[in-house]
Amino acid sequence: MMDVNNVNQSIIVENLNYSYKNGDDILKDISFSAEAGKVTAIVGPSGSGKTTLFSLLERYYQPQQGVIRLGNVPINQFSLFSWRSQIGYVSQEIPIVVGTIRDNICYGMDKKVDQAAIERVAKMAFADQFISELPNGYDTEVGERGIKLSGGQRQRIAIARAFLRDPKILMLDEATSSLDSKSEQVVQQALQNLMKGRTTLVIAHRLSTVIDSDQILFLDKGKITGSGTHEQLIRTHSLYREFAEQQLRINETV
Ligand SMILES: Nc1ncnc2c1ncn2[C@@H]1O[C@H](COP(=O)(O)OP(=O)(O)OP(=O)(O)O)[C@@H](O)[C@H]1O
Ligand SMILES: [Mg+2]
Repeated sequence: MMDVNNVNQSIIVENLNYSYKNGDDILKDISFSAEAGKVTAIVGPSGSGKTTLFSLLERYYQPQQGVIRLGNVPINQFSLFSWRSQIGYVSQEIPIVVGTIRDNICYGMDKKVDQAAIERVAKMAFADQFISELPNGYDTEVGERGIKLSGGQRQRIAIARAFLRDPKILMLDEATSSLDSKSEQVVQQALQNLMKGRTTLVIAHRLSTVIDSDQILFLDKGKITGSGTHEQLIRTHSLYREFAEQQLRINETV
């Protein structure tokens, strides 16, 4: 087992096949390359295998066929600890732990973090302002025993957490249920900051994320049926066009 020594390389997925125990194939011959430092968006219908693909990238499951590499090295050759510590994961279900805002930002850090660093990442995540308005600032109790944070506030805490860990690979599972448009904008801006300079894979529901990404993969029933930029897919992929039109309609009604 080796440590990841050069994380600034593309993630290359080759001929991946995956099925859950004794089930049908969920991922079928998936191949793509996520370029280092760029944003790769994954879109597609519910149940098409997007989250499953993330689980394989994070090595929660092993593919039956195919390989995932970082540059030339199959990711299985890295120790699980070393591989996972390269990855920052922000999902729509943000785990808030019982404790203070500070505890939640520092969650998962094995060393002590000073206040200046916490304030710096809160600022980058656009969380500093709402935190300063809480009764005890960073010492405010949240979660079951404390105050309840809104969805957008929770997301910004998760983003601050990710900034603090500073992973070079970012995996985002965007929330489907939309926030109000103001919080949505702030979260989106914070995410844009976070993605800068990181190899980002994002399961995208927001059209804004999709439009700005360097590459979009359309996943349908376990297969990649199209890839390219937003403009390319709009022109060539009818299901993608439908997806985009639907997103635009949703955005208009907010
Ligand atoms: N742990 C599991 N065991 C068995 N089957 C599973 C498991 N997780 C997901 N599946 C199945 O795999 C398929 C793909 O699921 P997956 O969660 O990857 O889809 P998705 O594209 O992320 O969908 P959504 O957009 O709704 O999140 C589905 O048919 C689902 O029922
Ligand atoms: Mg999913």
